[in-house]
Amino acid sequence: TKGNHRHFMLKEIYEQPIVVAQTLRAYLRRLEGTLALPTEDFDLASVKRVTIVACGTSFYAGLVAKYWFEQFARVPVDIDVASEFRYRAPVLEEGGLALFISQSGETADTLAALRHARAEGQKIAVVVNVPTSTMAREADLLLSTHAGPEIGVASTKAFTCQLAVLAALAANLARAKGRLSPDEERAIVRHLSEAPAALNGALAYDEAIQEMAPIIAAARDVLYLGRGPDYPLAMEGALKLKEISYIHAEGYAAGEMKHGPIALIDENVPIIVIAPSGPLFDKTVSNMQEVQARGGKVVLISDYDGIQAAGDGCVATITMPKVHPLIAPLVYAVPIQLLAYHVAVAKGTDVDQPRNLAKSVTVE
Ligand code: F6R
Repeated sequence: TKGNHRHFMLKEIYEQPIVVAQTLRAYLRRLEGTLALPTEDFDLASVKRVTIVACGTSFYAGLVAKYWFEQFARVPVDIDVASEFRYRAPVLEEGGLALFISQSGETADTLAALRHARAEGQKIAVVVNVPTSTMAREADLLLSTHAGPEIGVASTKAFTCQLAVLAALAANLARAKGRLSPDEERAIVRHLSEAPAALNGALAYDEAIQEMAPIIAAARDVLYLGRGPDYPLAMEGALKLKEISYIHAEGYAAGEMKHGPIALIDENVPIIVIAPSGPLFDKTVSNMQEVQARGGKVVLISDYDGIQAAGDGCVATITMPKVHPLIAPLVYAVPIQLLAYHVAVAKGTDVDQPRNLAKSVTVE
């Protein structure tokens, strides 16, 4: 049931601290400060390349994970949406791990891609939320998210749980490759363990986000900008807004603005900038100032330091807790989900059952 919440989507957004903690429990030994996988008998050390395939929100989780696999494990990563992957001629060499991400474990294109990869000799890993699903049964390495049933059509808690599993997997792979010292492993475990409390901190801005929702609800088009792992998050924010509020939105890499999309900017196009303070902050802020100089109305999502440094001149700011960069994508997912939610409620759309969409896409 929805409990005290008006919609399943809101309930599921609020469940994230608990279900992410629940999920992480299967992948970390917090007291020992070590990583773990649900199974010991999968040979990660021999993985030479990772090919990630998924659809929609699960694909964006995969895009974030690409940064982690490269950064921690130094393993090359290919990634594609399932509907494209299965109709190209992907080069799948020996020693490849094909990784499929799916809340339902039933998405037709992702499942077909899995079978194709298996036929091409890849080892198959899946990140799924339904342990009895077809993908779960067909995997060599089953990595469950423990988000519980997700009812709202727009994926929320499954996404943050996918990110938690993928971060742990990337770190496990790094360890198997001899690229993680015990100290580094302990630090990663500590950072991941801080995610549930940080998610709670992010939820505290619900009311502030609700108050600024009318600015977005009045727009015809909205842009989301981010860099690094916040770039896929920008695309996820745009997808969330499109699917439940029916407002046209696009996510862009902040540095790509001047290569075309900046032509769209005027005072009618709100721009949501996702920029936790950190190594990429100044770069993103300079792109943000370029759109402000053209009259663009910016909503900046950052932490206290980021808002202090760059919040002036924004139409609104959303302050996130200060977190380690590893968990920032999980934490910053919350305000983009809440923003889409409140905009949809302001517009009076059917939040849990948006038009034309199905929870599980079992046809091509
Ligand atoms: C967006 C959304 C969809 C799904 C996509 C994949 O909010 O829910 O984009 O993420 O249909 O579904 P799964 O993860 O079940 O394969």
